[in-house]
Amino acid sequence: MSKVLVTGGAGFIGSHTCVELLDAGYEIVVLDNLSNASEVALERVREITGKDLKFYEADIRDRAALSDIFDKEDISSVIHFAGLKAVGESVEKPWEYYENNISGSLILFDVMRQHGCKNIIFSSSSTVYGTPAEVPVTEDTPKGMCTNPYGWTKWMLEQILCDMGAADPDWNIILLRYFNPIGAHKSGRMGEDPSGRPNNLMPYITQVAVGKLPELGVFGDDYDTPDGTGVRDYIHVVDLAQGHVKALSKIEEGCGTKVYNLGTGKGYSVLEIIHNFEEATGVKIPYTIKPRRAGDIAANYADASRAAQELGWTAANGIREMCEDSWRWQKNNPDGYGK
Ligand code: NAD
Ligand code: UD1
Repeated sequence: MSKVLVTGGAGFIGSHTCVELLDAGYEIVVLDNLSNASEVALERVREITGKDLKFYEADIRDRAALSDIFDKEDISSVIHFAGLKAVGESVEKPWEYYENNISGSLILFDVMRQHGCKNIIFSSSSTVYGTPAEVPVTEDTPKGMCTNPYGWTKWMLEQILCDMGAADPDWNIILLRYFNPIGAHKSGRMGEDPSGRPNNLMPYITQVAVGKLPELGVFGDDYDTPDGTGVRDYIHVVDLAQGHVKALSKIEEGCGTKVYNLGTGKGYSVLEIIHNFEEATGVKIPYTIKPRRAGDIAANYADASRAAQELGWTAANGIREMCEDSWRWQKNNPDGYGK
């Protein structure tokens, strides 16, 4: 079977995808600069699958290192996760975000085409829809105005890839727009390991549950949603990872340029997530209502029917499994991978 380069493969979604790729029989090469990850995650991938992978500690902005990998390995497709992803930090350091995500990706795409590798799956985000006029969003919902530089890097990289695909029909490009990935591998050995205080809801909840943080702040209860708190489409990271394996089969058929939402199609409010977490784990989450967070929207969830029809992919795990698995990981690894 063909060899797949996974950029950012030591990260949260990348490491879970490595497990699914190895289980599906792919040979994989991981490239990561470990700026937001630990090599321990890759040891866990080997432990869980009983299979090996090749790891290069390298940066996508390092053209020579990338060329060297493509010279040595017979790469047929790339799954491109590598990038910076902290929304708040991107507002503070826009240049760093554009340079890492956009310059890095342009170098990667160039080295790929120089080596005749024109198959890529790109990690995009529901953030490209901006504030959608209505939910659920389909892939035909127009892209919107992003509220931060991180979001614009996804928006722009989608555009760059679509333009490359239009100019050269040899490219097979799949843009995957993830909704809100949470959960962890069932083994409790792999999960999300944010640096510092978490920005996202589920890691914040699990750190409250494990006693590392005193309470959760709920950002706003006056949105136009059933209980006033923000509604999102949470998706189990293992379902998301399996979506990449399906997308890879589509790429191998020769699909041209495609875009898919990866979500469950169901929205949950912040209060519903707290209650589901408490019910699934038996752990109480103290919270207080805080003002709205700048840049947040009321509701966003996916119409994921295109992925079901064209990739044969639907999310198998519900909110209970997402809560149970996030908690098992946090409880067993209170300090994450210890990076
Ligand atoms: P992550 O930070 O855990 O993984 C990203 C990985 O890329 C990290 O291991 C990091 O060390 C690596 N990296 C960053 N810059 C690099 C560079 N210049 N060269 C080499 N490696 C580099 O994040 P994640 O949650 O696994 O997200 C993976 C991808 O999915 C990202 O592109 C992210 O923007 C996108 N995404 C994530 C979410 C989410 O909620 N987690 C939602 C939508 C899209
Ligand atoms: C955020 C990013 C999005 C990114 C995604 C990655 C913003 C505006 N958007 O999405 O670009 O792709 O993360 O997962 O930051 N909440 C609380 N208390 C908390 C944390 C969150 O109430 O401590 C609420 C938020 O207001 C929101 C919901 O929980 O309603 C989900 O928040 P979060 O997990 O940060 O994801 P998004 O904001 O949807």
